[in-house]
Amino acid sequence: MTDIANSFGLLRLPDSIAFGDGCRSSIARTVATLGNRALVVCDPFLSSTEAFIQLLKELEVLEVAVTVDTQVVPELPVSVVEEAIDRALQARPQVIVGFGGGSALDLAKLIALGLAHGTPLNRFYGENQVPGPVIPLVAVPTTSGTGSEVTPVAVLADPDRELKVGISSPYLIPRAAVVDPRLMVGAPPAVTASAGADALVHAIEAYTSNNHSPNWQDTLPVFVGENLLSSSLALEAIRLIGLSLRNAVRDGQDFEARSRMAYASLLAGMAFGTAGTHLSHAIQYPVGALTHTAHGLGTGMLLPYVMQALLATDAQRLADVATALGVAAGTTEESAQNAIDEVAAIMADIGLPTDLATMGVTESDLPRIVELSLSVRRLVTNSVIEPTEENLHRIVRAAFDGDRTALNPLRTAASNESETKK
Ligand SMILES: NC(=O)c1ccc[n+]([C@@H]2O[C@H](COP(=O)([O-])OP(=O)(O)OC[C@H]3O[C@@H](n4cnc5c(N)ncnc54)[C@H](O)[C@@H]3O)[C@@H](O)[C@H]2O)c1
Ligand SMILES: [Zn+2]
Repeated sequence: MTDIANSFGLLRLPDSIAFGDGCRSSIARTVATLGNRALVVCDPFLSSTEAFIQLLKELEVLEVAVTVDTQVVPELPVSVVEEAIDRALQARPQVIVGFGGGSALDLAKLIALGLAHGTPLNRFYGENQVPGPVIPLVAVPTTSGTGSEVTPVAVLADPDRELKVGISSPYLIPRAAVVDPRLMVGAPPAVTASAGADALVHAIEAYTSNNHSPNWQDTLPVFVGENLLSSSLALEAIRLIGLSLRNAVRDGQDFEARSRMAYASLLAGMAFGTAGTHLSHAIQYPVGALTHTAHGLGTGMLLPYVMQALLATDAQRLADVATALGVAAGTTEESAQNAIDEVAAIMADIGLPTDLATMGVTESDLPRIVELSLSVRRLVTNSVIEPTEENLHRIVRAAFDGDRTALNPLRTAASNESETKK
C-alpha cells in the first residue's frame, strides 16, 4: 500500500480541461473569455475539415477577430517558428489556439512564448528559463499521444544543435485544453500507432521515474519525478491504453477505442507533465536525429528495453504496471516480466519496429547514441538506473540486437549506495 504520509504530490495543469464527444463546441466560448483577437494555429491537413470550419464560424458569431496560420511543419525548425512569431506580431493576438497534432500545439506554445518575451528562442532552451506568463493558449489536440495540450514543454529543432531541444516551463502550460475524441477519428494508422505508443511511454515512464522529495522552499524543477498525483493518473492511462491502442490502430472508426486513447493520452500528459519521463525519451532524441523517424516510433520501440533494464531494481512498480494491464500473475518479478512482455507485444501488434537496426541505426552509431543520450541530463537523471556510459550502452546494444535477455541486472544509484555502505 502507498505510504502517503511519506510521499508527496504535485500537478500543474491548465485552468480548465474539457473532455468528451462534442466538447469541441466549447472552444469558441473558451477563446472569447480570453480575448477578442485570436491567432489560430492549425495543422494544414485539418484546416479544411468540417470541425475547423465550424470553429471559425462560431468565433465569428462571438465577434472574435481571427487570423489563421497553417504553416505547421513536423519537427518544427526554429527558423520556421521564429518566422511564425514575426507573422503573429502583426495580428497582435490576445489569445492563441493550437488545433492539430503535437507539432501544431508546440508551434502554438512557441508563438505564445515569442510574442510575450521576444526572439531568439534559444534564450529559453532548457528548464525554467521562461521569465513570465505567455499569451494565453487554448490547446485542441487531434492526435492521441503527445499530451502537449496539458504539458509545460514544447519541442523544436535547431540546426545549431544535434538533438531536438525542449523549452520547459510551467508558463507554457495551456490555459485551457479541449479534448474531443471525434477530432481524432481521421488520423491514419501510422500516426495513431506512433502517437499512441508515445502516450504509453509517457504513462509508464512517469510511473517509474525517480522519486525524490522536492525542496519546497526552492524554485521547483519543472519535472519533479514520480509522485502520488501523477501516479494515479499514469496507472489509469496505462490501463486504458492496454485495452484500446491495438483496436484504435486496427480500426480508426472504432470510436470507443479512439475515446479511450484520447482520454488516456490526456491523463498521461497530466502525469508526465509534472513527473517527467526518462530513458526511452533520452535515447530517442539521438535516434530521432539520426534516423528522422517519428518521436513515438522511437520511444515506443525503446520502452520494453528500458523496462527490462528496470526489472532488477524496480520490480514492484513494473508489477503495478502489470496489474494495470491485466497481466499480473505469480510473484512480483513474474508480474513485472509479464508487464514488459505485454508492452513489447502491444508495440509489435501496432506495427512498431522491434529493434534499432530496423529503424536504420548502424552498429557504428551506437557510441554516439550513448554519448548524446547521456547529455540529456534532465531525462537520464529522472531514471532510477544510474546514468553511466556502461548502463546506457547495455540498453542501446540490447535494443540494437533486439535482445532483451541481455539486460539484467543493471546497476542503479540505490544499489551502488548500498554497496558503498557495505
Ligand atoms: N509538447 C509535448 O509535451 C510533446 C510531447 C511529446 C511529443 N511532442 C512533439 O510532438 C510532435 C509529434 O506530434 P504528433 O504525434 O501529434 O504528430 P504531428 O503533429 O507531427 O502530426 C503527424 C501527422 O498527422 C497528421 N494529423 C494530425 N491529426 C490528424 C487527424 N486528426 N487526422 C488526420 N491527420 C492528422 C498531421 O497533418 C501530420 O501529417 C513531435 O514533434 C514531438 O517532438 C511534444
Ligand atoms: Zn514523448
